[in-house]
Amino acid sequence: MANPTSFSLAVFLLYIIGSTARPIYPIPSEDDYETRQPLQTFRPYNIAHRGSNGEIPEETRPAYLRAIEEGADFIETDILSSKDGVLICFHDVILDNTTDVAKYKKFENRKRTYEVERVNVTGFFTVDFTLEELKSLRVHHRYSFRDPQYNGKFQIITFEEYISIALDAHRVVGIYPEIKNPVFINQHVKWPNGKRFEDIFVKTLEKYGYKGSYLSKEWLKRPAFIQSFAPTSLVFVSNQTDLPKVFLIDDVTVRTQDTNQSYWEITSDKYLNYIKNYVVGIGPWKDTIVPVANNYLEKPTDLVARAHAHNLQVHPYTYRNENEFLHFNFSQDPYKEYDYWINKIGVDGLFTDFTGSLHNFQEWTSNDSKTESKILHKIAHLVSPYT
Ligand SMILES: *[C@@H]1O[C@H](CO)[C@@H](O)[C@H](O)[C@H]1NC(C)=O
Ligand SMILES: *[C@@H]1O[C@H](CO)[C@@H](O)[C@H](O)[C@H]1NC(C)=O
Ligand SMILES: *[C@@H]1O[C@H](CO)[C@@H](O)[C@H](O)[C@H]1NC(C)=O
Ligand SMILES: *[C@@H]1O[C@H](CO)[C@@H](O)[C@H](O)[C@H]1NC(C)=O
Ligand SMILES: *[C@@H]1O[C@H](CO)[C@@H](O)[C@H](O)[C@H]1NC(C)=O
Ligand SMILES: *[C@@H]1O[C@H](CO)[C@@H](O)[C@H](O)[C@H]1NC(C)=O
Repeated sequence: MANPTSFSLAVFLLYIIGSTARPIYPIPSEDDYETRQPLQTFRPYNIAHRGSNGEIPEETRPAYLRAIEEGADFIETDILSSKDGVLICFHDVILDNTTDVAKYKKFENRKRTYEVERVNVTGFFTVDFTLEELKSLRVHHRYSFRDPQYNGKFQIITFEEYISIALDAHRVVGIYPEIKNPVFINQHVKWPNGKRFEDIFVKTLEKYGYKGSYLSKEWLKRPAFIQSFAPTSLVFVSNQTDLPKVFLIDDVTVRTQDTNQSYWEITSDKYLNYIKNYVVGIGPWKDTIVPVANNYLEKPTDLVARAHAHNLQVHPYTYRNENEFLHFNFSQDPYKEYDYWINKIGVDGLFTDFTGSLHNFQEWTSNDSKTESKILHKIAHLVSPYT
């Protein structure tokens, strides 16, 4: 973003665009929390990865609404920025793979090559498009084998629009936003008064009342996990908010984007002992917990046990129903995969593209009858102000 004037313009545009979907963004009243069904905290979290994106194109409003309808505890998103400094929900730094950007003549000269995390990437970058331009695009599925009927129908949404979806839900639904590619975003987008991407990210959460440490009374009203692959961003924001943070861990071959550390360094006991001062958990790529060869699971590593020994939760990614992603050990049955990860590996949350399947699995295999768990919930809710 060039200057404060274009920033104000962006805010104004955001307001106009936002108003078609939701007139203003009022902070919800305190008492409506009392009447809403609380977040469940007695079993592993169902984290709707990019919404219910197995069904509906990722990070769109309908994908999030579907996830909420299907029982998500948290809706997950990736935060990037537009050229004019508006935070948006979008996974890739380029628009090419999940939007129709390539079909517009007006954008054909917008293609660029930038270095992103030590790799040269060519395409249409979100940081070269204003929010208004981004809103003119339509999103489609990343994978051709997913239901095409919603392709080309929905817009990119802003971070604020995403938050409003969670706050408008009829029950308490948490948010799980990622500070995505912070090194790259801070190189390409400038905010007034030397503010960084991470500052704007935290300010946005504060604006909507997101605060408090994990399981605090305030957190339970508006639950949020902040996630990032960049440890320096997590450390930086821990100075600004005590919302719980989760350190994402990539494949064993990938070094961290900011500190250039290897997988082995960041999963060592020494490092877990350090990072636990800033985060409540780790979010590893699941194939690093249980390595895979020729599509068969190998012997599980001790990463979950070591993280738990450091009092860190483990929320692996990504669970996907399709044959293209299920390892042979699971007999092409996603419930078998959930059973393995929840009951054998013992994870604390799962990022899934199919929130409905995980929810059904958890409901159908729960030892708590519905009424029992409801009563437990009520009790937890009643005692939480005194703990
Ligand atoms: C986009 O898709 C291409 C082809 O499938 C893939 O090689 C590339 O990694 C994807 N880009 C991003 C940013 O995901
Ligand atoms: C990216 O491309 C530039 C220009 O061609 C080159 O100087 C640079 O070394 C490349 N970076 C990587 C990581 O390949
Ligand atoms: C946190 O804030 C303190 C006081 O403003 C500052 O001295 C310190 O450098 C900050 N730490 C980080 C990691 O930004
Ligand atoms: C990152 O670390 C690797 C391994 O030590 C090294 O080869 C590489 O040059 C480093 N990259 C940067 C940008 O420092
Ligand atoms: C997965 O299946 C392969 C082949 O049958 C077997 O060798 C391996 O032990 C299985 N992995 C696990 C974790 O059960
Ligand atoms: C219910 O709990 C018992 C005792 O902890 C356990 O053995 C059993 O596997 C559980 N059943 C289900 C369906 O989770």
